[in-house]
Amino acid sequence: MDTVLKVAAVHHRYGSTVALDSVDLQLGAGECVALLGPNGAGKTTLVDIVTGLRRCQQGTVAVTGGDPVRAATRRALGVVQQHSGVPRALQVEEVVRGAAIRAGAPRGAVGPVLAEVGLTQLARRRVTLLSGGQQQRLQLAMALVNDPSLLVLDEPTTGLDAAARRDFWERLAARRDRGAGVLLTTHQLDEAAAVADRVVVLAHGRVVAADTPAGLVARLPDRVVSARTGYAPADAITIDGTVAVRQDADGRLVVTTTQPETLVRALLAADPELDDLRIESAGLEQAVLALSGQLTAPPQEMTMMEVAR
Ligand SMILES: Nc1ncnc2c1ncn2[C@@H]1O[C@H](COP(=O)(O)OP(=O)(O)OP(=O)(O)O)[C@@H](O)[C@H]1O
Ligand SMILES: [Mg+2]
Repeated sequence: MDTVLKVAAVHHRYGSTVALDSVDLQLGAGECVALLGPNGAGKTTLVDIVTGLRRCQQGTVAVTGGDPVRAATRRALGVVQQHSGVPRALQVEEVVRGAAIRAGAPRGAVGPVLAEVGLTQLARRRVTLLSGGQQQRLQLAMALVNDPSLLVLDEPTTGLDAAARRDFWERLAARRDRGAGVLLTTHQLDEAAAVADRVVVLAHGRVVAADTPAGLVARLPDRVVSARTGYAPADAITIDGTVAVRQDADGRLVVTTTQPETLVRALLAADPELDDLRIESAGLEQAVLALSGQLTAPPQEMTMMEVAR
């Protein structure tokens, strides 16, 4: 598999803030990596360095073997930024044509890419008149028009409804299957699990985990135990191994725990009426929260906390 991105020992600081600390990352053609992590983890900083928008202060970054700060290297890139402005007075087709020219793509690429993202009917519409989802499709068209070897997308589905997100992931997967490497950041963890071959978790600028989505979940000891019971959430918090407790709208007690046996014994002993007991693996969302250190506070400080999906 050809390597389309190689990030080695990258550090980045903004004044006294360390945004990236010794980050390594590799991505092959036809591979999709999702970058996850809480706000401020350093995802956008890494994306900006990978796409040549920010110069690498320390370490090395190579996109298809070249420095992304160089215009020639950037032609291999397709980028959807977290915050980007499209000239609003222009028409959809003009904007994509401009992107094609800047990226050295042939003019003939514009029509097919508009069709690919479902904007053919809106080709002559002004950007100001597009809905949020249509603007996002326009961003994707601009990123795809030069048939990039590496697609980099920073929170591309923020603000999209469920159907638009599904469409988006399908288009992305199609490009990936045709050989593009894809690096994306997202807070939609379930969707990242569905689309990504690997998940890299950043926290405080460091890579705290890199694994397949399933591997990440499997490495976590947590289980989610739930049951219909009169057992008080406040009591569940005091049981050894409890990480978080919540009560569903229909009254179901849902407990995340590292010791499911201890919890189940306590529940059964206290409530002979207990019904519909279930034990499941914690999902990717919890894996990420735990790995990024957000669930390490002692249980008594956590009281009623909503963590499960
Ligand atoms: N231009 C800047 N000047 C100073 N500090 C910055 C700048 N950009 C980012 N930071 C800081 O660097 C750290 C990493 O920010 P970054 O935007 O890379 O995080 P992120 O993971 O993309 O977060 P989010 O999920 O909120 O988009 C944060 O502490 C942020 O406040
Ligand atoms: Mg960001």
